[in-house]
Amino acid sequence: MNIAQIFKNNHDWVQEKLNLDKNYFKNLSKGQNPDILYIGCSDSRVSAEELMGIAPGEAFIHRNIANMVPNTDLSSMSVIDYAVFHLKVNHIVVCGHYYCGGVKAAMQSKDLGILNPWLRNIRDVYRTHRFELNAITNEDERYKRLVELNVQEQCINVIKTAEVQRAYRSRGLTVHGWVFDIHSGNLIDLKIDFPKVLENVMEIYRLK
Ligand code: CO
Repeated sequence: MNIAQIFKNNHDWVQEKLNLDKNYFKNLSKGQNPDILYIGCSDSRVSAEELMGIAPGEAFIHRNIANMVPNTDLSSMSVIDYAVFHLKVNHIVVCGHYYCGGVKAAMQSKDLGILNPWLRNIRDVYRTHRFELNAITNEDERYKRLVELNVQEQCINVIKTAEVQRAYRSRGLTVHGWVFDIHSGNLIDLKIDFPKVLENVMEIYRLK
């Protein structure tokens, strides 16, 4: 990676934006009003804005290994709180991707040091759905299904939070589970039936 080239690219990008709109950065500096919170994987191949075809200012973005929303993770919890309570986003997307290294690592029994507690959250997803997963004999298919189920479980973790439940009731905030298929470039909506999922989890997680 040529670091000097990055600054040249940035210079070209600034010129390109200013040629289209001389007030582009002046307007950008006025503040942000995104309607979407996107939670995705840190994987270098899964760019958030580019794959959604959106511009700076349109989505609040959080990325970590395997697009996780662990219940006690201060980083993702703060991002959700800020996006929902202060920015007032109306959509939260958890976007996983096939061929996710984090999910793959969780399917293996290797000791990975500090990554262990993080990956245990994915192993918990496997345990929750082990009968369905173990019934899939093709390893590639099982791996893909775990990616999808992990997205679903992280969406549930989003729904467990008080601010999301409040926004769901007061302004109809919606949560979406997506998967990016690196092999084709397509974004897939998992069409998670949230009223049904909510009904299932709310008995336990409902907050007033
Ligand atoms: Co990944």
